[in-house]
Amino acid sequence: MEKEGNRRLRVVLVPGPFQGHLNPMLQLGSILHSNGFSITVVHTQYNSPNPSSHPDFSFLALPDSSSIFTGESFIPFALQLNVNCKAPFQECLAQVMRQQGLDDGIACVIYDEIMYFSEAAAKDLKLPSIVLRTGCAALSLAGHAIFQLKAEGHIPFPESRSKDPILDLYPLRFKDLPIMEKLENFMQLLSKVANIRTSSAIIYNTIDCLENSSMAKIQQQCQVPIFPIGPMHRIASATSSSLLEEDTSCLAWLDKQSFNTVIYVSLGSSAFMDVKELVEMAWGLVNSQQPFLWVVRPGLVPGAEWNDILPQSFKENIGKRGYIVKWAPQKEVLAHDAVGGFLSHCGWNSTLESICEGVPMICRPCYGDQGVNARYVSHIWRVGLEYENKFERGEIERAIRRLMVDDEGKKMRKRGKDLKERVELCTREGGSSNNSLIELIKMIMSF
Ligand code: UDX
Repeated sequence: MEKEGNRRLRVVLVPGPFQGHLNPMLQLGSILHSNGFSITVVHTQYNSPNPSSHPDFSFLALPDSSSIFTGESFIPFALQLNVNCKAPFQECLAQVMRQQGLDDGIACVIYDEIMYFSEAAAKDLKLPSIVLRTGCAALSLAGHAIFQLKAEGHIPFPESRSKDPILDLYPLRFKDLPIMEKLENFMQLLSKVANIRTSSAIIYNTIDCLENSSMAKIQQQCQVPIFPIGPMHRIASATSSSLLEEDTSCLAWLDKQSFNTVIYVSLGSSAFMDVKELVEMAWGLVNSQQPFLWVVRPGLVPGAEWNDILPQSFKENIGKRGYIVKWAPQKEVLAHDAVGGFLSHCGWNSTLESICEGVPMICRPCYGDQGVNARYVSHIWRVGLEYENKFERGEIERAIRRLMVDDEGKKMRKRGKDLKERVELCTREGGSSNNSLIELIKMIMSF
């Protein structure tokens, strides 16, 4: 993007170091790059993105070696990461500013909401900043409500209230709130993430036709403009930012399956199962009699070797009906004609990717924001069924048959196709996401 004369503007991006956070930020980078901006990605060494997948971007690593996420206690990790990264990030920004000539000024810093140290560092250097919220708009409303519910003494809530609806937050119940780990730690992180301080705007990877009323409520609550420019994976050029190698052999297997018959199963990048749950899932899939493609990520069952965790009798039973990979090219999988359903943890990226392909879901949230997403999928957009039970083979078999065979699933598939079309309209010229993107670019240019 040229501002005056031949000046090309640079945007510095600070992604969160997890798959579900890297993907939307790097997609945003591609969108801005294709609109003429230069992109610098400042990232942690932990879960660092692969520069060769984005040859047009510059990458700078922060010296954060003391912050390695062990898979437990996400919140202390995130809090510590923010303490550790602020000074090195500021140094990094100053270095970029010193190196750039007059032809390449930093227009602004765009940071993932969990990397909130970026805002303070940018402010100290008098650079504007914008926050990217990688979850849905309803999640922000739920976060806002948590402060009030806590002040009114409703949180922590007893188990007996877990299914009680929350006033003004339909369709959410207490158990759907994204509360994680120890309440005090959670509240500490939430207050940092929810507060945008001096940032100039908020970007959401969401779509007006999905979250129109949530966006309107958020806009009432906050003083800065909000830009719903999703689904970013659809607007960005199709590069992968997978941290694990994608096993594309499953696409050839899908080619051999009939239209809309395959149930795709993945719990995303960071949910865990125990061995018993995995075994129940395996038999539920086999007993459903549907073809299935299952992502069994290394580390999905903590401490277990990948090859050992699936029972031998299961491996012998699946024959040609099932295919298992460590990591799938998920967007291509969901776009494949053979895939007729998605058993998902309802991470926000997976939810958007499924909606964009019109694939109905079995929603089995595991933690965090996934409960909110699952409720919206099943109760607002009505393109998925809620799976609230433990992983148990009979329940899994029944849920798969409800989605893939029964009339209930057929109706969801029909609604899914309609929703997909509405989402597509939003990204076209004159559509809401396209208009928001134009406004966002104008704002960055005006800094
Ligand atoms: C979690 C949260 O649940 C999510 O809502 C939050 O915004 C980020 O952290 P995660 O478990 O990573 O996310 O799930 P999700 O948001 O769905 O992101 C996973 C990404 O990995 C998706 O873009 C998906 O396409 C990709 N993926 C997943 C693959 O490419 N291959 C796979 O086999 C599985």
